Amino acid sequence: MRRAIYPGSFDPVTNGHLDIIQRGCKLFDEIIIAILVNPEKQPFFTIEERQAMLEEVLKGIDRGGCLLRVDDFQGLLVHYALEQKADAIVRGIRAISDYEYELQMALMNRRLEPTIETVFMMPAEKYSYVSSRLVKEVFQLGGELEGLVPPLVEEQMKQKLAGR
Ligand code: PNS
Repeated sequence: MRRAIYPGSFDPVTNGHLDIIQRGCKLFDEIIIAILVNPEKQPFFTIEERQAMLEEVLKGIDRGGCLLRVDDFQGLLVHYALEQKADAIVRGIRAISDYEYELQMALMNRRLEPTIETVFMMPAEKYSYVSSRLVKEVFQLGGELEGLVPPLVEEQMKQKLAGR
């Protein structure tokens, strides 16, 4: 039983994240999608909203026999990974620009906990420029999000903006 943690902010989940989860399903029996609770950041969606959206959109993806679970965590990622008895941490790398930061994190995590491996995965090229940050910026400036996030996420973003 190979278990991985796929950590992130997921504010909001994008089609790039879902692509990585599906690829991860080819390598792992279970993936825990772990949302970081970061009191320092002012998020667009609350943890509960992000968790609910993730759970909903994961119902619609092809996962083979892979178990998918959504959770949140605070503190050090490696502590959480140990607590969950995970073998690995999955991170998506879109471009060389991601690599430097991701390498730094992976090496620090390895120093903190040598038993947990980090696995880098590349999303499909069509998602290589998609990030939650850009999705929010484009949305807030009135741009089209079709193909970048699941329709449910775009809908929730519209509702959130309308309620502000
Ligand atoms: O989606 P993000 O914001 O790029 O995810 C970053 C995340 C959650 C993977 C990273 O910030 C993290 O692991 N935070 C937990 C705190 C921690 O373990 N810090 C040391 C990592 S070197």
